[in-house]
Amino acid sequence: MIDLRSDTVTKPSQAMREAMMSAEVGDDVYGDDPTANSLEARVAAMFGFEAGLFTPTGSLANQLAIRQLVKPGEELLTETFSHIVRAELGAGAVFSGITTRTWEAPRGLLNAEDPLHIARPDSGPYQVSTTAIAVENTHNFGGGTVQSIEEIRKLREGSLKMGLFMHLDGARIWNAHVASGVSFLEYGKYFDTVSVCLSKGLGAPVGSVMLSNKERNVSARQWRKRYGAGMRQIGMLAAAAHYALDNNIERLSDDHKNAQSLAQAVHAVADHVVNPAEVDTNIVILNLSGLLTDAADLNANLKAAGILASPVGPKILRLVTHLDVSAADIAKVNSVLPELIERALEA
Ligand SMILES: Cc1ncc(COP(=O)(O)O)c(C=O)c1O
Repeated sequence: MIDLRSDTVTKPSQAMREAMMSAEVGDDVYGDDPTANSLEARVAAMFGFEAGLFTPTGSLANQLAIRQLVKPGEELLTETFSHIVRAELGAGAVFSGITTRTWEAPRGLLNAEDPLHIARPDSGPYQVSTTAIAVENTHNFGGGTVQSIEEIRKLREGSLKMGLFMHLDGARIWNAHVASGVSFLEYGKYFDTVSVCLSKGLGAPVGSVMLSNKERNVSARQWRKRYGAGMRQIGMLAAAAHYALDNNIERLSDDHKNAQSLAQAVHAVADHVVNPAEVDTNIVILNLSGLLTDAADLNANLKAAGILASPVGPKILRLVTHLDVSAADIAKVNSVLPELIERALEA
């Protein structure tokens, strides 16, 4: 099977497993795991933060971060299709009493004016006060889109004037960096908290890191334990993450090339299904509107040919490239998918 459902499906390579096997470990709840400690310090330094906190998931890293910024009953602004508001099952409301308000952006692309326009800090006794704004980079449901650094800068400027915090959901910030050339330090400097995932394009089996200042890190560490995610000998997981940072960042450009190749092959038979110019990184969104197939049918036909994809809407199919998908795999997809789409074109 060629598995294009997500970049989370990667399996640790032999070399990564060997790094995990030889990791130095200790009890991380006591702060004794040297590999976890060095990973947290490493990622914090990469993005210019004082401290890092290893978490089992990106969702937990996001949730620990936003609860540092937003008090119960206050408001986080985020894009309508962002992971925080669409795919974390209301965690901000359930665990932290955070209310959210959203703005909608085509392809998830940030326009600083949108959140600044709806932000209402210090709203007094009758209305919810806005406290923070979240940005997702790359934007998953937007199609792996890379946020403009100019818009991020403008948003920071406006947020500082209004006294608002900023959180970056950087689950795929690695892809954004490779596609844009913007440094991690530059991305980091506009945010109060950041979450990054090692288990997506970088190929580690588990793990995210939440970045913040020291004070927030101490508090987030307590909340991580309170949520039941204080872990013990996690050096084995942190070693996989170190390996991923050492070996798997620059190669993301291969995933981006593969995604381009796939998009171009589909575009060649049906130009309205995908625009390759809108495929910034490793996520290809096919819009099947007007075709005589829906996402579930096309997905079933692909599966029969040994290709897995994700229907993410009745007429939307998502394909994600990653380090377990080779150029030869994509050549095979390109020999199947465009033909299926051509057959579904209306006469
Ligand atoms: C943008 C984004 N943020 C956060 C997450 C959460 O990661 P996890 O599945 O590890 O909770 C994901 C997962 O796909 C994601 O795409």
